[in-house]
This record gives sequence, C-alpha cells and structure tokens, in this order.
Amino acid sequence: MECTVLSNKPLSENFYLMETDCSRDAQAGQFYMLRAWGVYPVLSRPISVFDADAGKTSFLYRTVGQGTGMFARLKPGDALGLVGPQGRGFPGVPGKTALVGGGAGIAPLYLAARRIKNADVFLGFRDAPFLVQAYEAAADRVVVNSGGFITDDIDPTQYDAILACGPEIMMKTLYEKCKKTGAAAKVYVSLESRMACGVGACFVCSRPVGGGNKKICKDGPVFPAEEVFGL
Ligand SMILES: Cc1cc2nc3c(=O)[nH]c(=O)nc-3n(C[C@H](O)[C@H](O)[C@H](O)COP(=O)(O)OP(=O)(O)OC[C@H]3O[C@@H](n4cnc5c(N)ncnc54)[C@H](O)[C@@H]3O)c2cc1C
Ligand code: FES
Repeated sequence: MECTVLSNKPLSENFYLMETDCSRDAQAGQFYMLRAWGVYPVLSRPISVFDADAGKTSFLYRTVGQGTGMFARLKPGDALGLVGPQGRGFPGVPGKTALVGGGAGIAPLYLAARRIKNADVFLGFRDAPFLVQAYEAAADRVVVNSGGFITDDIDPTQYDAILACGPEIMMKTLYEKCKKTGAAAKVYVSLESRMACGVGACFVCSRPVGGGNKKICKDGPVFPAEEVFGL
C-alpha cells in the first residue's frame, strides 16, 4: 500500500514523529514494514504503530542507520510504502495496567495508553524527554526517567498487568523485579529482531521462545514474558 506523508517532525537529535494518511486500524504493538525507496536498501524496515486514529497512522522512530535516515528526509507529500499492520500486538488485559518503555520502545505505548483504561505509563529516556504531554493526555499517570533506569521507578506489585517494550535487558530486569517482589502481574514484552520479509515467510526473525522457535514478525512481536525469559 502506498501512503502519503502528512508531517515528519524532529523531536530530538535522532527521534522523529511521522504522520501518514494511512487509514487502517491497528492494535497497539503491531507494526508496519516501511519503505521510502525503490530498489536499495533491499529490505523494508519494521516500525511500530505510534497512533492510528481519524484516518491517520503515525510512527515514532529513532534514526540509527540507512533506512531510518531516509525516513528522516521525507517531506509532507512524499510517498511511503507500507505493509501491515503486522504481527500480534499487546493483548487486552483486565485491571490496573503499567506500560513500561525505554528508548524507541516507548513508541507502541502511546496507542496502548489510549486504548487501555487505567494505565500508568513509565517512560525511560537516555537524554531529554519528549512527547510527555501527549502521553499524559492518554494515561492516568506518567512517570519519566531521563538517563537512569525506568525499572527503578515501578512497583510491580501495584499492577495486574505490565506491558513492556524497549531494550531486552530492560524488559528482563523488569520481569526479574516482578519475580523478586512476588508481584502477581501478568507481564508481556515486545521483542525486536532484524527482519527481512516481515510477514512470516523467511525465518530471519526466528528465535527460541516458550520452548520452540517463534517468528517475531508473525507469532509476536509481543509474547508473555515467562516464555521469553523463563520462570
Ligand atoms: C517489531 C519491531 C518494531 C519496531 N518499532 C520501532 C519503532 O517504533 N521505532 C523505532 O525507532 N524503531 C523500531 N524498530 C527498530 C527499527 O526497525 C530499526 O531501528 C531499523 O530497522 C533500523 O534500520 P536502519 O536501516 O536505519 O539501520 P541499519 O542500516 O539496518 O543499521 C544501522 C545500525 O543500526 C543498528 N541497528 C539496527 N537495528 C537497530 C535497533 N533496533 N536498535 C538499535 N540499533 C539498531 C545496526 O546494528 C547497525 O549498526 C522496530 C523493530 C521491530 C522488529
Ligand atoms: S522476517 Fe521473515 S519470517 Fe519474520
């Protein structure tokens, strides 16, 4: 599907928020394979849905290399190729929920906060925070940590469910904290992987999860934490 870029604004030195006219609905935690070029680079790049509403879909992305660098140069009116939404996002969870994100992992938590009632959001930034007001408008409470560990700021015993996205070490630390504190919260984590097809056809993103090999793009990217990190 080809869409049009409506806006593409820098939020910090290497984070951008891009709004497109893609009108498909999406589940929080799902992603699109994005492409802003012809032949090279060969592969499209997976980026989570930041928001999907009112006939628009937006993406929050960090520039780390060639593909995301090309996204950053897109201007309003430019064409963008999208395949998706792909994958299994965050499940519907009852009760008090914490959404915990670090770095670019905060991206899928905005739509999650808008769709889940009673959510507290924990946002970890390496440098100066951004978009905090947007998250505050969507959530019960927003806790921000800049330069430290967002996992230090959450008491997991206060929650029935915890949805996390970010560096794997952050999500593992969070899950271990749940175990240490005896928290009953059900924890779901969104995994990252290099992807080729993004639709379950090539096995590039396959890794052991829950006693078998799972494709991050099709079986995930969201999995129960105990299947990823063990009990
Ligand atoms: C399901 C899923 C959802 C994602 N959602 C988002 C999102 O919402 N926002 C976002 O910013 N990113 C997201 N990512 C990560 C994003 O896909 C990669 O950052 C992107 O593909 C890198 O492409 P590139 O061409 O810019 O970098 P490349 O040119 O391919 O790589 C350049 C350098 O960056 C490193 N690199 C590649 N991927 C990552 C990464 N994930 N983190 C850190 N360094 C990396 C490479 O090792 C290399 O050194 C998601 C990934 C997955 C699997
Ligand atoms: S990227 Fe091809 S199967 Fe997941």
